[in-house]
Amino acid sequence: MALFARSRRPAPPAAPSTPASPGPGTGGFDPELEQRIHELGADFLARARRNRSGLLSGAFWQDKLMNWTMKDEAFKVQLFRFVDVFPRLSTPEQVHEHLVDYLRQPGVTLPPFLATGLKAGGLLKGTMTRQVTSQIERMASNFIAGHDAASAAPLLETLWRRKGIAFSVDLLGEACVSREEALAYQAKYLDLVATLPGLVHDWPADERLERDHLGAIPRTNVSVKISALQSEMDPIATPAVIDALRETLRPILEAARDGGVFINFDMEQHELKDLTLELFMRCCEDVDFHAGLAMQAYLRSGPEDARRIIEWSKASGRRVTVRLVKGAYWDYETIHAQQHGWPIPVYQNKWETDANYEACARVLLDHHDVVRTSIASHNVRSMAAAMAYAEALGIPKAGLEIQMLYGMAEPMKQSLRGMGYRVRDYVPVGELVPGMAYLVRRLLENTSNEGFLRAKFAENRDSETLLRAPTSAGRDVADPSPSSQFLNEAHTDFARADRRQAFATALERVRGELGRHYDLVIGTERRRGETAIYSYNPSRSAELVGTVACASREDAEHAIRTAYGAFPAWRDTPVEARAALLRRLADELRRQRDALSAWMVLEVGKSWREADADTAEAIDFCDYYADEAIRLMTPTVLGRYPGEANTLFTQPMGVGVVIAPWNFPLAILCGMTVAAAVTGNCVIMKPAEQSPVIAAKLMEAMQAAGFPPGVVSYLPGIGEDVGAHLVDHAWTRFIAFTGSRDVGLHILKSAYTTLPTQPG
Ligand code: 2OP
Repeated sequence: MALFARSRRPAPPAAPSTPASPGPGTGGFDPELEQRIHELGADFLARARRNRSGLLSGAFWQDKLMNWTMKDEAFKVQLFRFVDVFPRLSTPEQVHEHLVDYLRQPGVTLPPFLATGLKAGGLLKGTMTRQVTSQIERMASNFIAGHDAASAAPLLETLWRRKGIAFSVDLLGEACVSREEALAYQAKYLDLVATLPGLVHDWPADERLERDHLGAIPRTNVSVKISALQSEMDPIATPAVIDALRETLRPILEAARDGGVFINFDMEQHELKDLTLELFMRCCEDVDFHAGLAMQAYLRSGPEDARRIIEWSKASGRRVTVRLVKGAYWDYETIHAQQHGWPIPVYQNKWETDANYEACARVLLDHHDVVRTSIASHNVRSMAAAMAYAEALGIPKAGLEIQMLYGMAEPMKQSLRGMGYRVRDYVPVGELVPGMAYLVRRLLENTSNEGFLRAKFAENRDSETLLRAPTSAGRDVADPSPSSQFLNEAHTDFARADRRQAFATALERVRGELGRHYDLVIGTERRRGETAIYSYNPSRSAELVGTVACASREDAEHAIRTAYGAFPAWRDTPVEARAALLRRLADELRRQRDALSAWMVLEVGKSWREADADTAEAIDFCDYYADEAIRLMTPTVLGRYPGEANTLFTQPMGVGVVIAPWNFPLAILCGMTVAAAVTGNCVIMKPAEQSPVIAAKLMEAMQAAGFPPGVVSYLPGIGEDVGAHLVDHAWTRFIAFTGSRDVGLHILKSAYTTLPTQPG
């Protein structure tokens, strides 16, 4: 029935199936450049093959656990979950219990060497626990260099003296949860910045590691994760978070300036990206230190972010280093965005990320006079592409730094050095507990189907495959088909500046509408009311949000009679038509979304995010009940006895009263009202006395959506008076109530008392 075609919101955004704009550009195919990429890449791979020394990562690939992990996705998820809690387990019993719990989940296939141990008790159980414990500890020590700077110092010195590799020390720890923890991290960073220059001072000079085409490069390089320094890290409050972080970072950056230490701002999850960029620029303006920042090529916004830093650098005259990484939070970003119904900010196809990496590298290298570029990658194709492009621009080898992670791809590092490039290791130091997130990211990366290292070391693919240009040609393209199921309305992504601005604008506009009066709505009539309810902003008690008519018993009586009169026609309206009205209401709420949320901020003191969620839930109720009403109210034939015709059907009851609370002033009121209305009942809405204005807005939206007069009435009033009258009324067939226990019990009692005047 076309008339009732569903006007649902579009399915949640999926990754585009083709690299349609703004997909990663390949910048036009240049055969000469491509040939040079293959030459450099082939040279690089040949050297890596010869460099078998220090194959630290080799051991990792041969590990039984890792092998199984790469075969079985469900096992991998459970194992990494276990790894995540492991540092907190203090006895062998706990280790065993947790292993059993995690690995015995449905769908997990156990490798034979674990299966026996998991079932067993006694000796075997102890052996298995010890094995798993030592495997995890070994896994961690592959990637983490020491528990602090002093314990990692000999290793840093070996890197420098014997391998000719520079370092960036990363203090393990992120996403701190208290101010005390943030201050403790600040102290640790200060200590690193103060201690390291003394430790490296006497190392021999190394021209290649200490100078590039733009000048001197500090020996001491420290990577900072800002989420370790601020516990209230919420991009919804970007300016406040930036101010707080500038204060926390200032002493660290001043010490870095005084000690000649390079500080790199790491990039973490996408929701902090804009905040980090902004913070970085402000900090550079605050303090004149050797500054760098990581940028992630898996982000669709990569090239745009790079241009933003270049423009700022040009305008401010500040030279900074950009460490171009692929990005380490792919799984998180994908799942997080899907959970929220937001566009996924990272490319879903690996080749797109690789193409974007090359595109970002070109943008940065094109501006080598203002930014230094560090190529942080383990992908030989990506590195060779940057090298070839730099060569074509006439940038000397010293002008391109290559960064890799400590403990990974060791043979490649020596090859790069042999080719004449400056190599820097990213070296994490710290304890296992704060290092867990880091370790799990490395495990995810190393075992991902599409990771370069896995292809090279574990699967030993041939050079041509490894060096293939990242295009869609001949590759599978993920094409998640949109779902037709009910999906919750996405909450607003307040990490987006445009969404914060839109919300602030809505608040501003709503503020301009404060103090108005709202009439009762009964059928086609509006009643001003003899008395009024004054609704004040609870956060600013002098701010009058609005006044509403306060219904009298006579008004209530009139409302019930009007609803009674409207009932037969509404009952006989096809459920599809009623459902279509709910969908129209959902669209109307969507259209006014920020304004409705703003009314809640002002009328009941909700925070932005809570108010936004309330509006989203109101929309959900409309969509969901529309679907369900059709399902439930479609008659079903029962049984097959000849001579009998049994049909199960549902029917509306008549006139109902909805009494809603103030704490979810839109969602609960809307949900209870539309559930009753879509099933064919007529409803009298009695909102809470503290939130009658937002209820008036809902009434307006229902009218705009085309609800027929009398189907829903708006009847604010005093609970004990008009509420009680509605509840006790003989014609009230049902009451939907959310509120206090006392009132609830009273309503129950009244509802089960059958009055002599009650219609049959
Ligand atoms: C990470 O912490 C290397 O910064 C990157 O995963």
